[in-house]
Amino acid sequence: MATLYPNEPDLELVISESAIRQRIQQLAEKISADYGNSSLVLLGVLNGAFIFMADLVRELAIPAEIDFIRLASYGDSTYSSGTITITKDIEVAIAGKDVLIIEDIIDTGRTIAWLIAHLQKRQPQSVQICTLIDKKERRQEPVSAKYCGFNGDRGFLVGYGLDYAGNHRQHKGIFTLRA
Ligand code: IMP
Ligand code: MG
Repeated sequence: MATLYPNEPDLELVISESAIRQRIQQLAEKISADYGNSSLVLLGVLNGAFIFMADLVRELAIPAEIDFIRLASYGDSTYSSGTITITKDIEVAIAGKDVLIIEDIIDTGRTIAWLIAHLQKRQPQSVQICTLIDKKERRQEPVSAKYCGFNGDRGFLVGYGLDYAGNHRQHKGIFTLRA
């Protein structure tokens, strides 16, 4: 397949910009219907979720507070170690509110399992997950996303916020890195 980025022949398109846009509209409709009467807090996980979050919130038909958390997980660039530290914590009060975590991708589930436990200490009314991509093959923790954009079974993905060693986040579509 021809690459969209002539200077980056290693990128093979997996999910197009228009497919992402369509799917986000569908997710936003469901979320708007499900959370219409609640105090919704959308919590984006930095850095990966920044583009997904920005596009999703603009399709919502309901009020929502927006905040971000940033986590560091030590491991190599393609596998999460499970040793997680917070480098920027949530700032909005979430006690009694409905929290929807906005994540770019769930792989082993370690990051999100750790985050859910961290948030539960603040006694939110509910905590659910909305992930752009759900990769289930390497799951280590029993977490499941209430909202999922796409299933990821095509190796390591980059673009639309997703990175490999800090690169490729800016691409409009989602790509796999050719070996
Ligand atoms: P987990 O803790 O294994 O579920 O890893 C989740 C985090 O690892 C995500 O938030 C991403 O930052 C990163 N990650 C896992 N798989 C990929 C991928 O295919 N592309 C880019 N980042 C990934
Ligand atoms: Mg991430």
